[in-house]
Amino acid sequence: MPEKRDAPQEVKKEIESLVKEINYHNYRYYVLDSPVITDEEYDKLYRRLAQLEEKYGYVIPESPTMRVGAAPLEKFAKVRHTVPMLSLDNAFSHDELREFDRRIKRLLEREEDIEYTVEPKYDGLAIELTYEGGLLARASTRGDGFEGEDVTRNIRTIKSVPIKIEEDGGVPQVIDLRGEVYMDIGEFKKLNRRREDAGEPVFANPRNAAAGSVRQLDPSVTAERRLFLACYGMGAAKGVEFKSHSEFMDWLREKRFPVPAVFEKAKGMENVLGAVEKIEKKRESFRFEIDGAVIKVDDLGLQQKLGSKTREPRWAIAYKFTAHQATTKIKDIRGSVGRTGVITPYAVFEPVRIGGVTVTKSTLHNWDEIKRKDIRIGDTVVVERAGDVIPHVLMTIKEKRTGKEKEAPVPAHCPICGGEVVREEGEVAVRCVSLSCPAQVQEKIIHFAGRNGMDIEGLGEKNVELLYTKGLIKKFEDLYGLKKEDLLRLPRFAQKSASNMMNAIERSKTPTMARLLYSLGIPHVGEYAARLLAKNFTQLEDLYHVQPEKMRSIKHLGDKIANSISVFFKDEKNIKTMEALKSAGLQIQNPDFIGEKKKQKKQKLPLEGMTFVISGTLPAPRKAVEEMIEAEGGHASSAISGNTDYLVAGEKPGSKLDRARELSVKTVSYEELLELIKGRSKNPTLF
Ligand code: IVH
Repeated sequence: MPEKRDAPQEVKKEIESLVKEINYHNYRYYVLDSPVITDEEYDKLYRRLAQLEEKYGYVIPESPTMRVGAAPLEKFAKVRHTVPMLSLDNAFSHDELREFDRRIKRLLEREEDIEYTVEPKYDGLAIELTYEGGLLARASTRGDGFEGEDVTRNIRTIKSVPIKIEEDGGVPQVIDLRGEVYMDIGEFKKLNRRREDAGEPVFANPRNAAAGSVRQLDPSVTAERRLFLACYGMGAAKGVEFKSHSEFMDWLREKRFPVPAVFEKAKGMENVLGAVEKIEKKRESFRFEIDGAVIKVDDLGLQQKLGSKTREPRWAIAYKFTAHQATTKIKDIRGSVGRTGVITPYAVFEPVRIGGVTVTKSTLHNWDEIKRKDIRIGDTVVVERAGDVIPHVLMTIKEKRTGKEKEAPVPAHCPICGGEVVREEGEVAVRCVSLSCPAQVQEKIIHFAGRNGMDIEGLGEKNVELLYTKGLIKKFEDLYGLKKEDLLRLPRFAQKSASNMMNAIERSKTPTMARLLYSLGIPHVGEYAARLLAKNFTQLEDLYHVQPEKMRSIKHLGDKIANSISVFFKDEKNIKTMEALKSAGLQIQNPDFIGEKKKQKKQKLPLEGMTFVISGTLPAPRKAVEEMIEAEGGHASSAISGNTDYLVAGEKPGSKLDRARELSVKTVSYEELLELIKGRSKNPTLF
């Protein structure tokens, strides 16, 4: 440590002026939210001050460097509030506010309108700041209202809290100021993300985060959390007097204290109601959470006349806005099946009212999320329902666990039809693959009848929906039992359209194996995979009890597809559907594949002589697409050149797309590539 020299007069002056300047910039930044210098300029001033203080050992109490650096405590000391810190009575309706107004007039024996003030009710932690001789001497929590904890060293780290009261116009000998310490919603979310990453428990809401941050034995932890203050009240004071609450608020503003974001005077209750509504409208636009508006009689003389009850003053009331959150218990965790077979977990709650609506359940998004948030059946949870957002579980309150809570298992069977489910490694979705699952049958039939599937012309989304809702098709096989008279009874069908539909259905009874496999909508089985399978299995029955090893031996067929196929055919209900389709007249038209292939060899393969380059993300793995191109006679290359015939562009194709344009190389999508193979195939029945 270098020997400290006594600071020369001009150094002291510079230090004092730097302190003033930095404190002013803190005020601009943290109180007014309108900085006038850049962060770099601020840092430069701060560094200069810190260097001078260090070198000359001259540090004045209000120096910004004094906000940080205090050592951790063992425990908080107790502080008695000179004037008890009261709580507020609540009103939940306009009528209750009118009643509050009537009571005040009655107590004051007044007819004329009362002058009130209206300000937001911050949802944070109440704090008392005691200034002695203009300097922050103590900061304490509310505690039980009479005695709180000494959190001075923590509160000093909050940049918007003045360490010294502005001297202009004089400072009171002593003054106890009251306000709310709060955390911005953005800061709260960031903090929780950091805590989650570190495996630490997250805070349920910004209020708890603010309270947890102030009640820290180590002030350096508080310093890391961006906290704010809004001053709204006063306890004991010596050497200063105010006539009204609004005059006091003006004084606070002059003295650079942070005050509530909205502050209005309103004469008479009807004007108060207008001001309250204005605040409620602004609620969502605030960076911080408020849970209501506080209405106070402005005149301090009248306040004194009205006095207080044991816990609340008679001159103020909190008008509570509808809550966005509530706690409740999870009675059960169940799965709901979507149209595509994805099974989404949801929580069933003990009914709870949030914002005027009774909430009984909410989605839990996916099974990984349940694990990540460690949500269990029997847990007490915080549920949020803000604005139009659907209710969701914010977190579980682990402290409320009794040990009887149960983890929700990922379903082994579909909760709707009892069918088999699949969940691939690394994927969050759990799916039911049963063709007859009522939750998905419509969607499955639309896919089945689609152009690349069984190609039943006229059987699109609308008609499937119509036939389904009329109860004519409940299962796949019902399609082949349809009669013309059934159709004619429906509003959309006339003689011709009904005949066309019947013919289209009839024509679809002789699909190729590849087409049928694709039509079944088995997860991951696209057209190419269906073709690969059809080359190896010529009858559906071949797949009923297929050994996984056999599947894995098929070139280009990935594990995902192999797994998906075996789960699909493991489902008894699916086998039943296959058999029912066959009984209904469905017959696979099997080209003698080996013979066809030989013939094909002599003929040209669809992509023969063509060079392809792949770029971007395609629906199938790049390797598989390259192999498919090669299998169809093409050449897959990695770089674009004048010899390239096609660029197969997926999502985010990058610079190769620009290069292709420069060289006038044709760009096709993955689907177009498949079309190209199909269109040029000399053996179109394979599809
Ligand atoms: S005045 C004697 N004004 O709400 C009256 N309180 O539920 C003292 N609060 O303990 C309170 N914003 O922590 C007042 N603008 C505001 C407020 C406010 C938040 C808190 C305060 C109080 C609690 C009562």
